[in-house]
Amino acid sequence: MGDIIGLVSGKGGVGKTTITACLGAALSKQGYRVLLCDGDFGLRDLDLVLGKNDEVCFDAYDAINDAELTEDVIIEIKDNLFFLPASQQMRWEDMGRKKYRKFVQRLSEQYDYILVDAPAGIGRGLESIMKLANRFLVITQPLWVSLRNAARMIQFCRDYGHRDYVVVFNSLHPAPSDPNLYDMLDAVGAEYVGAILPYEEGIVEFTQEGRLAEVLPQKYEALLKPLVDYIVTGDAWDEQDVVNQYDTITAVKEVEPQPTLASPQVGEGDVIYTSHWSTQSRLVEGKQSLWRRKGLK
Ligand SMILES: Nc1ncnc2c1ncn2[C@@H]1O[C@H](COP(=O)(O)OP(=O)(O)O)[C@@H](O)[C@H]1O
Ligand SMILES: [Mg+2]
Repeated sequence: MGDIIGLVSGKGGVGKTTITACLGAALSKQGYRVLLCDGDFGLRDLDLVLGKNDEVCFDAYDAINDAELTEDVIIEIKDNLFFLPASQQMRWEDMGRKKYRKFVQRLSEQYDYILVDAPAGIGRGLESIMKLANRFLVITQPLWVSLRNAARMIQFCRDYGHRDYVVVFNSLHPAPSDPNLYDMLDAVGAEYVGAILPYEEGIVEFTQEGRLAEVLPQKYEALLKPLVDYIVTGDAWDEQDVVNQYDTITAVKEVEPQPTLASPQVGEGDVIYTSHWSTQSRLVEGKQSLWRRKGLK
């Protein structure tokens, strides 16, 4: 029986659907048989991201109510990668949630991994996915509201008796106003980090074209490697790798000043350094805050 992995966040728009598609593609490329489940009943969108919106004739709601549709409902994306659409009309509240759970659990006998893309919020959908999945990826962004929601998701995982989860920091960019790594770890209260992913313009482009899983950008595949490793081996990243990755993504480069309306002249030799944290100060600060966290346990 394959693992059933829930991708949760609380807040919408943080990258659950995007990461479901990319991670599924990365795992299937390694030879694992993977099923992607759209868990966003009533507001489905994974079909669009996968470019399969025209092929959805039946959905999971139909399949749990008619055993003959079990085969027809699953759409092949590419080698080893399959997709179970959600209903667009029926919400979690409208369907047999236990039936859906049994259905996906039965399907897990045919796959190495099932990734369930959760809806935003803490309603019936999240509750059902908490009961269905046995491992979780808590997706968040460097925004206080997303971080607070991620902390809540971790609390949910614990409340449901799950211990096998990692946090994924998505859409990081070099922005001085963003919380730093240790602020984020503190805010989320996460023990393990699964991946740190940068903001990538190309992701939006591929998503719009529905080609994300089909042509997983090589760079993104490399960035997802620690998450793939966690899924396959159960080992999360060690702390130094997390710090290195964070530093690489958020390093602010020296920029040549450009003439602006406010200051049309750039003086000779003027170079603006926009660096905000040095690695050293981050590490010292981080160590203290990690100690604080450990002291609290
Ligand atoms: N790492 C990233 N870099 C750039 N854009 C991203 C990234 N991750 C997600 N996005 C974009 O953010 C938006 C919301 O992502 P989505 O996966 O739909 O979030 P969710 O499923 O959590 O609501 C989409 O337009 C998506 O293309
Ligand atoms: Mg989504």
